Amino acid sequence: MSDPSADDPDGTQFTLLGPGSAAGPVDDDRLHDLYAYPAGLARCWVRGNAITSLDGGAATDGTSGGLGGAGDRRLFRVLRELADVIVVGAGTARAENYSGAQMTVTQRGNRQRRGQQEVPPIALVTRSGRLDHDLPVLTRTEVPPLVLTSESAAADAQAFVGGAAEVIACSAQDPAQVDPATALAVLADRGLRRVLCEGGPTLTGTFVEHGLLDELCLTTAPMLVGGAAPRIATGHGHVLTKLARRHLISDDEGYLYGRYVRVG
Ligand SMILES: NC(=O)c1ccc[n+]([C@@H]2O[C@H](COP(=O)([O-])OP(=O)(O)OC[C@H]3O[C@@H](n4cnc5c(N)ncnc54)[C@H](OP(=O)(O)O)[C@@H]3O)[C@@H](O)[C@H]2O)c1
Repeated sequence: MSDPSADDPDGTQFTLLGPGSAAGPVDDDRLHDLYAYPAGLARCWVRGNAITSLDGGAATDGTSGGLGGAGDRRLFRVLRELADVIVVGAGTARAENYSGAQMTVTQRGNRQRRGQQEVPPIALVTRSGRLDHDLPVLTRTEVPPLVLTSESAAADAQAFVGGAAEVIACSAQDPAQVDPATALAVLADRGLRRVLCEGGPTLTGTFVEHGLLDELCLTTAPMLVGGAAPRIATGHGHVLTKLARRHLISDDEGYLYGRYVRVG
């Protein structure tokens, strides 16, 4: 077992809630077990990671940063380490000024042992393909991102990003839309099956609507935001998807971290 203070430079103490001997402190080794993807995946397993306020807000002042805390950042890093690819909507990449994922030496070693490339690429989802060539996700990254876009937009998108990213057309019947199942098939073909979707609400809503979200890792921040904040998943289609709780963790600041997996 590793020393939690060494695991976490911010000094967060996680506690697994619930009855029985499993409850108690959680260090990084334990986090890796609690958040392990299913073994031997033949298709993409889509894990969503999101943060919400107590009143269901997914952002304050246009970003989710104000909701976060040290524990949330620690879990964010662990979930990134476990993923083969980080999928994010272009709106979030723009709003949150995304850059490429960063991995520590320890994380790189862990990833090598799991047979993963040292740093997971970001896969940007964009229908329009309109990406500024100086977007940090394109310029500040160790590994080139993937751009998952529509057939209609692919040529323009490649012109926008130049050689900074690989642009892949992911349409099905409608050449103007990104088909989420096609996008996942593209990732699976590249061996990128442990998918981490970091949102935003439009992209997460698409996966939910198409029955493609396998699990949700939800951080509940002990805050109220009021106003007209978006929810963590938005869209046109109404669905009722049943999930089962795998575990619930808390920390000294009163955040809750739940892992919920789709039933059936
Ligand atoms: N609380 C949280 O956990 C969390 C997480 C992430 C983001 N956020 C917040 O959410 C807000 C952004 O929300 P958002 O809904 O605009 O985020 P988003 O889903 O990241 O971005 C929407 C844009 O991404 C592309 N996109 C998303 N889904 C698509 C799909 N199914 N097909 C094709 N393109 C798709 C489109 O880009 P194009 O316009 O280029 O076509 C679309 O306009 C920000 O305030 C951000 O801070 C919160």
